[in-house]
Amino acid sequence: MFSPPPNRRPRIPCLAVLVLAAGHAALAQSQPQDPPPAVVACKGQVTQPAGSQAPGDQYVFFGANPKPGDKEGDNPAMNLVKLMDFSVSTLIPGSHIIPTDPSKPEWAKVIAPGGTPVNTGILYHNGGQNTSHRDLVTFRITNPAVTSFSVWVLDSTLKNNSNANLALRVNGGDPLAATATVQTATSNEFTQFTVTGASISDVFSVAVLNDAKPIFRTLAGLTFAVIPEPATAGKRLPNIQQDGWNDLNKNGRKDPYEDPAQPLTTRVDHLLKQMTLPEKLGQLNQLVRFADKAKLDAALFPLMRRGEVSSYIWTAPNPALRNQFQRIAVQESRLGIPILFGMDIIHGARTLFPIALGMACSFDPQLLERAQSVAAREARAEGLEWVFAPMCDLARDPRWGRVAETCGEDPYLSALCNAAQVRGFQGPNPAAPDRVAACLKHFAGYSAATGGRDKNDTEISEWTLRNAHLPPFQASVKAGALTIMSAFNAIDGTPSTANRHLLTGILRDEWKFGGFVVSDWDAVAQMIQWGYAKDKADAARLALNAGNDMDMKSEAFVPNLAAEIQAGRVAMATVDEAVRRVLRVKFLVGLFERPYVDELAYRPGQVIPEDAALARECVAKSTVLLKNTGILPLAREIKKVALIGPVGDDHSEMLGCWPGRCSWAETTLAGALTAALPKDATLTVVKGCDISTTPRTKTLQDGSVVPDEDVAAVSADVQIDAAVRAAQAAEVVIMAVGEPKGWTGEGGSRLFLSLGGKQQVLFDAVAATGKPIVTIVFSGRPLSLPAVWSKSAAVLYAWQPGSQAGPGLADLLVGAASPSGRLSMSVLREVGQAPNYYNQLRTGLPGFSFRDHLTSGEPQYPFGYGLTYTTFEYSPLRITPAAAGQPAAASVTLTNTGKRAGDEVVQLYIGQLVCHDGARPKQELRGFKRVTLQPGGKAEVSFPLTGEVLGYVDRKGQPQVDAGTYDITIAPSAHKGTPLKFEFAR
Ligand code: NOJ
Repeated sequence: MFSPPPNRRPRIPCLAVLVLAAGHAALAQSQPQDPPPAVVACKGQVTQPAGSQAPGDQYVFFGANPKPGDKEGDNPAMNLVKLMDFSVSTLIPGSHIIPTDPSKPEWAKVIAPGGTPVNTGILYHNGGQNTSHRDLVTFRITNPAVTSFSVWVLDSTLKNNSNANLALRVNGGDPLAATATVQTATSNEFTQFTVTGASISDVFSVAVLNDAKPIFRTLAGLTFAVIPEPATAGKRLPNIQQDGWNDLNKNGRKDPYEDPAQPLTTRVDHLLKQMTLPEKLGQLNQLVRFADKAKLDAALFPLMRRGEVSSYIWTAPNPALRNQFQRIAVQESRLGIPILFGMDIIHGARTLFPIALGMACSFDPQLLERAQSVAAREARAEGLEWVFAPMCDLARDPRWGRVAETCGEDPYLSALCNAAQVRGFQGPNPAAPDRVAACLKHFAGYSAATGGRDKNDTEISEWTLRNAHLPPFQASVKAGALTIMSAFNAIDGTPSTANRHLLTGILRDEWKFGGFVVSDWDAVAQMIQWGYAKDKADAARLALNAGNDMDMKSEAFVPNLAAEIQAGRVAMATVDEAVRRVLRVKFLVGLFERPYVDELAYRPGQVIPEDAALARECVAKSTVLLKNTGILPLAREIKKVALIGPVGDDHSEMLGCWPGRCSWAETTLAGALTAALPKDATLTVVKGCDISTTPRTKTLQDGSVVPDEDVAAVSADVQIDAAVRAAQAAEVVIMAVGEPKGWTGEGGSRLFLSLGGKQQVLFDAVAATGKPIVTIVFSGRPLSLPAVWSKSAAVLYAWQPGSQAGPGLADLLVGAASPSGRLSMSVLREVGQAPNYYNQLRTGLPGFSFRDHLTSGEPQYPFGYGLTYTTFEYSPLRITPAAAGQPAAASVTLTNTGKRAGDEVVQLYIGQLVCHDGARPKQELRGFKRVTLQPGGKAEVSFPLTGEVLGYVDRKGQPQVDAGTYDITIAPSAHKGTPLKFEFAR
């Protein structure tokens, strides 16, 4: 429990104390002592319990000796007061509220006026729904002599139960608007706010900033004390805020770098000129703060004060703490250069959209742009100015878990989807309060990891690099991406972190990239393990000289580069240029003008309805209908539905890897389906088995391994029996199956492309009932599930659809929305086919077949494939030759031949027959259009056949197009349609 540091242990002045105990408030008199008391005045009235406790209500409890985990009723002294009605009213001038700690009697009791010990005020605050942003207590210091004081707050149970963070707000929370400065430190379970420079007009409040739990939770306790400090205590931080600019170097003048009206280059150069070498190297240094260490870590203060931390990977959604870190960098360092806070916000922050691989299936780049603009707004609101997305790597091998984060296997589609994400994140002005800097990753070729084994070696030829792996990056650079992350892999023996050809030759010299490059996690230091660098100094030199500007996590630059410069192995100009790039981005995201995030505007867990609606639309548009015998959409006449499988009523599996700030989807598929099915229909929900296998044994203390009865008691077989019974009683079975989300994403490589745990056994048992099955597959990669494809009446491939998975999928099941997604990555028949992407280079022996039971190398469902609830007919392809300044064009007439309206994604594929620069793929996607047609509706769909559409990139990075013959196809997917020959003449 709490034990204040000896030199700061507050003496307990004998003061008037307000006693807040069950049902009464009592006043008592104290014997005055020095120092002169802080005079605390609070407003309002304490009211009595207000009705029954319901989820969503907030309450304040008063009582004695709270323990972490206390619940209502555990402590008879508690008195329930609805928070809405709460405020402390009758604290009289000179009163204190003193924390109670049973282990510290001197803290537990307060000597009340007249010498009577009394209970102290204790606030309890439950973590019900959206309990954030509550000012728990508001007070003013009315003694003008007291300008420095501490507020001690016990927030142990808040910490135990949630991500809640306490803040001391001054004048409504804007730290810059107050004369007072608040610093925060934590000591065990207490948070200490040290206030300096308070004036009698300042209004303080102890607030919970970000406690949001989806369900009614155990109580959180809060005890607080206001203790006056001797006048000398605490250091008053300078107020840097001026009229429209910040006095970052605290010299009272508007220097060029502080002046927003100055051109960017002037500001950067002016700042750079003043920087010492350690300050410059500091700007190249990125450290990591994990959520579990999301406290002010005193060991970091000196670094920040010296300007040696440029950026944090900031895992905790904790704006208050983030501001506290920032305050040290801005207000206590010489030049006040703000810290850039970055994090992996990959497919959403609070509103989780489908994973990128799913979003790309929409073949609707604008949709990705809209989704990422929501993610940007949510990320910025919590204090991130930088997100490590989008991932521009190609998804070529489904064994590699990170295909989930990509936009699929096709460079053209990926380029469009990634560039759109950059626009979504950054918008027209990344300094706007709802935008962030994007970070393209991983530059380059990371996804080509040998055997799909994450972080493995890669072998990529320049030809393949230029034509397959680089186009998505180049398009995203063109879209204005401000940063790029170098990759873990090595190409041709050179780790990307030290690959000058990539990081300087291609990125800067060819593409004129003006942002900065950050290495991947610890990758600078990992060059030692690669056997490429002998120590951190060697690694730092190699990385910086190659074009890496910021070192993520290795801490190799700051301690080593000065000596490298001294030794002449690193040029000062190289360091300066790297610093310039980093500063430029910091200016561009508006950090110098707005170093602090608005803590009070932050609403954790809150998703606005428009964002939820967009996420729901994304689910419907990214889900791919792989098979439908006509059972979907479900007829309203169907009255008995069984929902079977481990994802059916699960709140988190569908969120996927990198779930941002959302660990819990409010509505499960079961919940959404119950609402979507006709009122007189019944839905029986049976889990069937776990998504992965739980070990059936446990290890005892003596080391012996015995059966775990708890697991055995609910054995998967028993659940499978229940599932079979539910299927037998139903007219239709919906199976919600897949792979665990933890098997996808970083480090998520797999040996098999199968369902997790006993799900295949479950599926087969249910299928044996003969009932029609609609299977929904939840997965971060295309799985190979032959029995599912053959035995299901319909298959919806949902990927990991995010927080609106339930409602979005229910829309599709009942026909409130129509599926229109197309595979962004081929679904293979068996894992042995991997890698098998549609756009492989031509070979001398097409028609390859495997020796075992497969007859062809074709995937089960190719890239671009997807059905709708209607049918479309393509007319024969027409090619119109170029004429009168118009390029040649390929076109078809598309007709909706079905009975429902639907969206068709019409795709243009080209294939160059002879290319002397290098063999090209037989088919390459070079255009697509999403067309909506009513039943019987027709549309002309055409694509220009320009040099840009037909061309490629040579090994020097030059765009080329050859005169010659091309196969042109317009089709509903790769590997479909009959090509027409087209002669292109330059
Ligand atoms: C390593 C991952 O490869 C990268 O994608 C991520 O952005 C960083 N860690 C930071 O979390």
